Parts: sequence; structure tokens; C-alpha cells
Amino acid sequence: MGLLTGKTALITGAARGIGKAIALKFAEEGANVAFTDLVIDENGKATEAEIAAKGVKAKGYASNAADFAQTEEVVNQVKADFGSIDILVNNAGITKDGLMMRMSEAQWDAVIAVNLKSAFNFIHACTPIMMRQRNGSIINMASVVGVHGNAGQCNYAASKAGLIALAKSIAQELGSRGIRANAIAPGFIETAMTAALPDDVRKEWVQKIPLRRGGQTEDIANVATFLASDMSSYVSGQVIQVDGGMNM
Ligand code: NAI
Repeated sequence: MGLLTGKTALITGAARGIGKAIALKFAEEGANVAFTDLVIDENGKATEAEIAAKGVKAKGYASNAADFAQTEEVVNQVKADFGSIDILVNNAGITKDGLMMRMSEAQWDAVIAVNLKSAFNFIHACTPIMMRQRNGSIINMASVVGVHGNAGQCNYAASKAGLIALAKSIAQELGSRGIRANAIAPGFIETAMTAALPDDVRKEWVQKIPLRRGGQTEDIANVATFLASDMSSYVSGQVIQVDGGMNM
């Protein structure tokens, strides 16, 4: 029996990257997995097949997480298709970096909408289901910059700080209904998002990490599995930094 056998997970932005790694790990532990992404193209279909190959039910849904109405619709569809939603991972996220002086209103609005409002949308739609079940684990994908800030990322850092406060507030509001909410704050993880960085910037980052390596998506998936499972049944309202010791 896996750690998540009998549970259904819904993960946003999981066609690739960290979300996909979480989906695969959850499936290995026996969870049925619903995931969303902006489009479900060949890549998304391949992800769906990889998850299903672990012997669980898997389905990808095309949906813009920043859109309130689309989110309500997709959550209702997932509930109809899977029967329950026990685990919600708010993972969809983007960066539109720039120094404050040069940041446009559009850069600010897009990052807040996709990273922060999306989590409100999904929590709003999923918590009535979780409240009826008297059981749920919500995981917000934050970032170490949401705890410590980062020059050139004021929009992204603010959105990630918001995700942390959102998790803590939900933990307080809904703990009595059996719902836990936590945040993961990844450091430097090797994905498409960080592959875009120039080599010298990457080297500089790794020098600041006591474990002297970038994180792998599996490093995040392992912590997400812990937070999703009953192994963490007395853990709520926490932020777990998964960053090789970069920030203490
Ligand atoms: P990624 O760019 O590889 O994957 C993000 C996924 O979200 C993509 O599949 C994308 O299509 C999807 N997405 C984007 N906008 C969406 C929307 N409006 N609706 C639905 N899906 C949408 O990124 P990665 O690296 O896997 O990041 C995943 C999460 O982890 C993000 O929230 C990111 O901010 C966070 N994170 C990543 C770190 C890293 O070093 N890679 C560090 C800290 C946090």
C-alpha cells in the first residue's frame, strides 16, 4: 500500500516541471491524479500517460488557473470524474522579472494573477468538497524568495509571500474541519524556469548552497508527498524550505 492509496490529488500547472514530478510521485504512492495546465497538448497527453502507467487513474485538464470561472468549472469536472479531491497542490506559476523602476503594470498583474489569485480560485472551489469530506491537504508552491525577497523579482516574491500567508490563513480557518494547509518554498531547482539563466549566474547560485547542487524536481515531490500524506497529519500552517540549506 502506498502513502497516498485511495486519495485523489489535483495539481495545477503539472504538464511539466515540478508539478509533473509531484504528479508522478503521488501516483507511485497510489494516488489518483487530476492535473491542469494552460493547454493539454502532446506533452500534456504524454504526462497523463506517464502518470497512468503507474497504475492509477490520471487525467489532464486544460484550464487557466488565473481564471475564477474556469477554475470552478474544472474543479466540478474533477469531482465528477474522480469522486473526491483530497489533496490540492497550487503549483502553477510564472516569472516576469524586472527591477521595480522598469516593471510594467502588466508584468505585475500577470504574475499576481497566475501565481496568487490562482491559488485563491482553487482553494475557493475545492474547500467545500474537502469540508464535506472533513479531510484535505492543501499545498501552495511558494519560493524561498517569498520568505527572503529578491531584487528584480518584486512581483514574483510578493506573489509567493502571498501564497505563504494564504496557506497559514486557511490552516487557521479550516483546521477544525480536518483541512491542513502548508507551503513549500523551493530554492534553486533544475527546471525549464531556471534553465533560462546564464551559466555564470547559475554558478554563483550553486556557490551559495551548502549542499553545492541545484535541487531536482524529485526533491520537491518528496516533500509534497510528505505534506499530502497522513505522515504529516499534525503539520499545518508551515513553510518548508527545500533549498539545500541556502537559507537558514
Ligand atoms: P515550469 O515553468 O516548468 O512549469 C510551470 C507550469 O505551469 C507549466 O506547465 C505552465 O504551462 C503552467 N502554467 C503557467 N501558467 C498557467 C496558468 N495560468 N494556468 C495553468 N497552468 C499554468 O515551472 P517549474 O519550475 O516547474 O515551477 C513550478 C512552481 O514552482 C512554480 O509555482 C514556481 O514559481 C515554483 N518554483 C520553482 C522554482 C525553480 O527553481 N524552478 C523555485 C521556486 C519555486
